[in-house]
Amino acid sequence: MASFLPIMSPPMSAITCHEPTSTYFLQGAGSSYVLRVLPTGHLVHLHWGARLEPCAIDWFPLWGDRAFSPNPPGMREVGFTLDTLPQEAPAYGNGDYRAALVGARHADGSHVLDLRVVKREIRAGKPALEGLPATYVEDPAEATTLAITLLDKVAGLEIELLYTVFHGTDAIARSWRAVNRGGAALQLSRALSASVDLPRADWTMLQLSGAWARERQVVERPLAPGVSAVESRRGTSSHQHNPFIALCAPGAGEEHGEVLAMNLVYSGNFLAQAEVDQFGSTRLQIGINPLEFAWELAPGGSFQAPEAVLVRSGEGLGGMSRTFHRLYRSRLVRGPFRDAPRPVLINNWEATYFKFDTDKLLALAKAGKEVGCDLCVLDDGWFGKREDDRSGLGDWTRVNQAKLPGGLKRLAEGVNALGMRFGLWFEPEMVSPDSDLYREHPDWCFHVPGRPRTEGRSQLVLDLGRAEVRERIWADMSSVLRSAPIGFVKWDMNRHLTEVWSPALPPARQGEAAHRFTLGVYDLLERMHREFPDVLVEGCSGGGGRFDPGMLFYHPYIWTSDNSDAIERLRIQHGTSMAYPLSSMDANISAVPNHQVHRRTPLATRAIVAFTGAFGYQLDLLTMTGDERAAMRRQTERWRQVRRVVQEGDLHRLVDPRGNRWAAWMSVTPERDEALVTCVRILTEANAGRLALRLRGLDPARTYRVRVTTTKELPSGSGATRHQEVESAFDASGAALMAVGLRADSPGDFVASTWHLTTLG
Ligand code: DGJ
Repeated sequence: MASFLPIMSPPMSAITCHEPTSTYFLQGAGSSYVLRVLPTGHLVHLHWGARLEPCAIDWFPLWGDRAFSPNPPGMREVGFTLDTLPQEAPAYGNGDYRAALVGARHADGSHVLDLRVVKREIRAGKPALEGLPATYVEDPAEATTLAITLLDKVAGLEIELLYTVFHGTDAIARSWRAVNRGGAALQLSRALSASVDLPRADWTMLQLSGAWARERQVVERPLAPGVSAVESRRGTSSHQHNPFIALCAPGAGEEHGEVLAMNLVYSGNFLAQAEVDQFGSTRLQIGINPLEFAWELAPGGSFQAPEAVLVRSGEGLGGMSRTFHRLYRSRLVRGPFRDAPRPVLINNWEATYFKFDTDKLLALAKAGKEVGCDLCVLDDGWFGKREDDRSGLGDWTRVNQAKLPGGLKRLAEGVNALGMRFGLWFEPEMVSPDSDLYREHPDWCFHVPGRPRTEGRSQLVLDLGRAEVRERIWADMSSVLRSAPIGFVKWDMNRHLTEVWSPALPPARQGEAAHRFTLGVYDLLERMHREFPDVLVEGCSGGGGRFDPGMLFYHPYIWTSDNSDAIERLRIQHGTSMAYPLSSMDANISAVPNHQVHRRTPLATRAIVAFTGAFGYQLDLLTMTGDERAAMRRQTERWRQVRRVVQEGDLHRLVDPRGNRWAAWMSVTPERDEALVTCVRILTEANAGRLALRLRGLDPARTYRVRVTTTKELPSGSGATRHQEVESAFDASGAALMAVGLRADSPGDFVASTWHLTTLG
């Protein structure tokens, strides 16, 4: 399945330089990003918005004398000050008092940087970033990169800024690499990835924030003078805030208006902020959180900043999301599973927790096979001393023979014999104090000598910045993966970092430890990707605690949240979809009453919500009735019919679950030959108006066969028989479906409908 049709075009049409004014136009499908090298060597930002054909923009005043805005030597007369200049690579200490992109502490303790352009070059394609995840191209003709090198002459610090335009999209990837060309060591103290100065302040900031089991809720707030920020200080991107920020222009909504967004391809501490200055300009930034960050650059040493993906939409949040989704599906996710249909899985976690044995798991797999699952995943508790979450992490080679007589091999082969793949859970970044690994190497976790070690879920975090720690974890993990036919790994991470200190680093370089941990995690994931290319890896961090573009580079999908309640999932999946495609969201049907919120929802509704992700099950099928299992069999059959459009389609969010009694969205294939519309009623309302769902993205000239499935609540009955699924079909033109819409009118709470559209002829 191909989900992306890259546009091949000659480099010069995507990035053009208006030579007389040294102005660069980075041209997207409907947008332009314009920057200019001033005669002084300063790199200024001119425009990020609607598409603009190359021209001179030297008439627009970029500066003027201002009280308390200092001037570089000799510049008072022309009123030049960095304090108000729109800059692409601002630094601190030279008269710009706003937040910097890059910061350094020199050998003499000073921190001033004066970065001026010394080189500029347009290159075909896009370079890979050493040791870091990043978007990529398969052919240099898919993208063009502008490389602009700036130099602080006094220190010899060189910063090469990279801007990649993906042809035919409105996405730009930004990153930079620092090289110390001077004779003395210095320390980078700030390494944000992108900074853009916008000439207005009337934006609404949109962030994706929440908590465990409540990830990525959409939060909006108007900007005010000063800094509006979200960040993670937890060592991972976190449940609390996502490394994403968007600014919405006045009047912008789901399908209309201008939105500018940044998403960081990084899984550690981050900062995303918008700073409104004294003159009503906004500086939008994203990058590694400067808190406790420092990186030593010896003479000749280099540092690679992570990549930020910048998206501009003139079609509201919907347009923004579709640009992110297309890019991530096709040029961030990698490997043989990128375009492959996501398997239907049965995972034993909520079915058994730690209480299982081979017989139980094989019975669960068999029941899974009967309802149409492709993959059986054994979750936590198969290794070491692990009867609960208090011990055993790190003892990966000690398979629990009491639970699994014959080991993983017998179990995996038993699952394979049913015609299913076998999958296994790991939490490679952790160690339990009660484990053989910890007893052998008590100094391998993050800790500060002489201080207590803070535990989270009774576990400690391994210092994966250290090569010897990574070697041991990888040796153990890879030997387990070779010991049995394992075709899937769930890679979990269940606590955040504390006492971040590493004996491998001298005191002055402890500011590197958190970033080195993230690089160490990436190194392990890269080994997984290279040495086990046929193993499908699912990301997880206590649900969706590390749902970020960095992780999507290593695995095509992520367990979206430990909250599997269908109604709660509406808001979680809605927020997640702002940046991340449906194909990246693992969505499972779980039991009722739901284990997280105790809500009872109809089985059909749980299925419809899980249809808007990568569909699977996480419940004890053996306790389900025959009727329920028959319904599940029909669900997996239906899922296979709609899987392509969910995985490859463009998303249109029709009704926002926030503040509405309904939620609805649809996916349409790029060819517009198929669409899936799903609608869930959250709470019913007496004497309510009927909801008209006006569809989007269809071909107005074609006729679609519309197959409807609706859940109806029956006056009597319980469990699976309390709700009945009613099916019907009709034909309608794309134009009418978009102008008039569909009627969603099932009575009752938590009921749901789907409309599967296919073109006729
Ligand atoms: C947290 C994950 O999100 C769950 O799905 C499960 O794998 C548990 N960890 C196991 O400890």
